[in-house]
Amino acid sequence: MKILVPGGAGYIGSHTVIELLERGYEVVVLDNLQKGHRKAVNDCEFVQADLLDKEKVNNILKQHKVDAVIHFAANSLVGESMERPDSYFRNNVVGGMNLLDAMRANDVKYIVFSSTAATYGEPENIPILETDPTIPKNPYGETKLTFEKIMKWYQEAFNMNFMTLRYFNVAGAHSSGKIGEDHDPETHLIPLVLKTALGIMDSIKVFGTDYDTEDGTCVRDYIHVMDLADAHILALQDMVTNRKSNVYNLGNGKGFSVKQIIDVAREVTGREIKTVNTDRRAGDPAVLIASSDKIQEGLKWKPKFHDINTIISSAWKWHSNNPDGFV
Ligand code: UFG
Repeated sequence: MKILVPGGAGYIGSHTVIELLERGYEVVVLDNLQKGHRKAVNDCEFVQADLLDKEKVNNILKQHKVDAVIHFAANSLVGESMERPDSYFRNNVVGGMNLLDAMRANDVKYIVFSSTAATYGEPENIPILETDPTIPKNPYGETKLTFEKIMKWYQEAFNMNFMTLRYFNVAGAHSSGKIGEDHDPETHLIPLVLKTALGIMDSIKVFGTDYDTEDGTCVRDYIHVMDLADAHILALQDMVTNRKSNVYNLGNGKGFSVKQIIDVAREVTGREIKTVNTDRRAGDPAVLIASSDKIQEGLKWKPKFHDINTIISSAWKWHSNNPDGFV
């Protein structure tokens, strides 16, 4: 089976590509390399293209005759989306529609889509269920939710199937040590904490210590990137075998505060990690924890790396061996 992976050179995309190849799938990565790394996808076909180039996207689908798409290509920073809603809607919604239209024109019926916990906004209940209200607090979450809705109507009208995976906080790296998380700029907690452990940064800022949580810092549900990769493949298989569409949360169902993450990182790295308490970061909900019961039951997904020490150790292996990322 041949899979097109837009955004396959990015963090989550490249880990999923390795897993697809290991399980015998043929893979074509499509990436504009604005954020992705060519070196992260050495073992499969690669086409450099932007989803906003509608004609090129259509030609790629025509040429490669893929059976399904796993779609990661998107802008994904909450803060940036507040300042540039225009580029978020253009890239994530218009670009995504170009992809869907090219799929339609070339009779490709299956798509797995990277969505986010940001579709829920400030949750009413913890853990969050897929049926809970979706009221995004930022343009990033809104663009992902919009695309989810578009896929639903494309299914009705054009008989296309989708699997939406709403990720919580993704971390960790592939066990080979060859690929890992490398964003520029980096904004995520775990890589920044580990850069501080390495001495690349002097200290890590703790955004807000007055939240209504046990230690006053935000609580998140961290999931290992390879468990996420596994979920994409299970979702793909279920969609193609049973011609089903669905929406699933992906997290471990357990929350860790910012302070707890820093403590675990101190333990894993054996280094001192200096912290500086600062104001809250705009748009951060206090607590985000997923219920992943639906995917555990429906697709028999079982996270292998749910322990937070294991997740941070695997990220540490990547960062300590590649302090400058992909060079
Ligand atoms: N944090 C700090 N200091 C930092 C960086 C982060 O204290 O230097 C805190 C944040 O305030 C937050 C937690 O660490 O409470 C985690 O922050 P991340 O930036 O690592 O992740 P987010 O929870 O903001 O983002 C994740 C996904 C997004 C998704 C969002 C939904 O990465 O794609 O959850 O809210 F949109």
